[in-house]
Amino acid sequence: MHPGAAALLRLLPLVGLVACHGVPAPPTAPPTPPTTAPDHRRSGYDFMSPATQALQRDDSANPGMLWVQGGQQRFEADCKTCHTPDSLRGVAPRYPAFDTVLGKPVTLAGRINLCRQRHVQQAPWPWDSEALLELEAFVALQSRGLPLLPVTDPRLHIALLQGQRLWQQPLGQLQLSCAQCHDQQAGRRLAGSTIPQAHATGYPLYRLEWQALGPLQRRLRGCMNGVRAEAFAHGADEWVALELWLRQRAAGLPWEAPAVRP
Ligand code: HEC
Ligand code: HEC
Repeated sequence: MHPGAAALLRLLPLVGLVACHGVPAPPTAPPTPPTTAPDHRRSGYDFMSPATQALQRDDSANPGMLWVQGGQQRFEADCKTCHTPDSLRGVAPRYPAFDTVLGKPVTLAGRINLCRQRHVQQAPWPWDSEALLELEAFVALQSRGLPLLPVTDPRLHIALLQGQRLWQQPLGQLQLSCAQCHDQQAGRRLAGSTIPQAHATGYPLYRLEWQALGPLQRRLRGCMNGVRAEAFAHGADEWVALELWLRQRAAGLPWEAPAVRP
């Protein structure tokens, strides 16, 4: 048996216990982030070893900065006629955001690709392409330290509720939901990793396991594969909905891209 699967099966009885309490029904009003003290939310950073934390903190050692540098060069070539890095401060922590032309929310990478099509008049980059990742990393860096913003635009509420439902829905052959691992089992060990609370505060980020910088969707695909669920197609609206819900859950936590994770 795959070692990951064995570890998951060991976790299942625990999950069974908490599952008895039932999954709360989706609220009729848009969910708001918890406001009552104390705040028990923790970035994945807090669950890492001191050595990995040090790698994230030191820009001269953080491998994610290589992608940022690539993004800076692309930015100077293609974007600086219309944007300055300063003008993009505060943008990443309020994405996904609504695009009026498409009539639906787009992720930060999606927005950059729209600029490429609409304003640079070039074909969009493929999802997961290095060019898109580098530019996203450069734009994301500008917001370091700012709090993630709650979702307040009413045009986003349907997608936000869809994201919350996906979060609570049992997935794949193992029939585990994101919430069962990340809300109910966070802090426990699974196949050699600590289950984090899954606050997406540092994407795109450098994962030691990938030996590369990767976008949030790559991380989420990994979690879906872990429960033997078929991941959504590239660019599917479900990803945008899940990202919106993750932003809402993490609202107020500091933005830390490019983060480092095990
Ligand atoms: C079986 C348990 C399990 C399930 C179910 C699961 N995950 Fe995860 N997830 C993990 C583990 C373990 C990690 C950390 C892996 C590591 O560090 O090697 C992780 C990491 C993450 C992270 C990265 C957090 C950070 O600090 O960067 C996010 C975001 C995330 N998961 C979201 C999700 C979403 C969304 C779902 C549902 C589609 C989901 N997960 C389902 C176990 C799970
Ligand atoms: C010719 C001008 C122009 C160029 C070149 C351009 N953009 Fe834009 N950008 C805009 C405009 C205008 C908007 C506002 C939304 C819209 O109209 O699409 C925007 C919006 C954005 C946003 C969202 C800002 C927000 O507040 O939500 C980001 C991020 C962005 N651009 C990144 C880029 C990147 C990266 C490039 C280079 C690949 C680029 N843009 C090239 C004009 C441009």
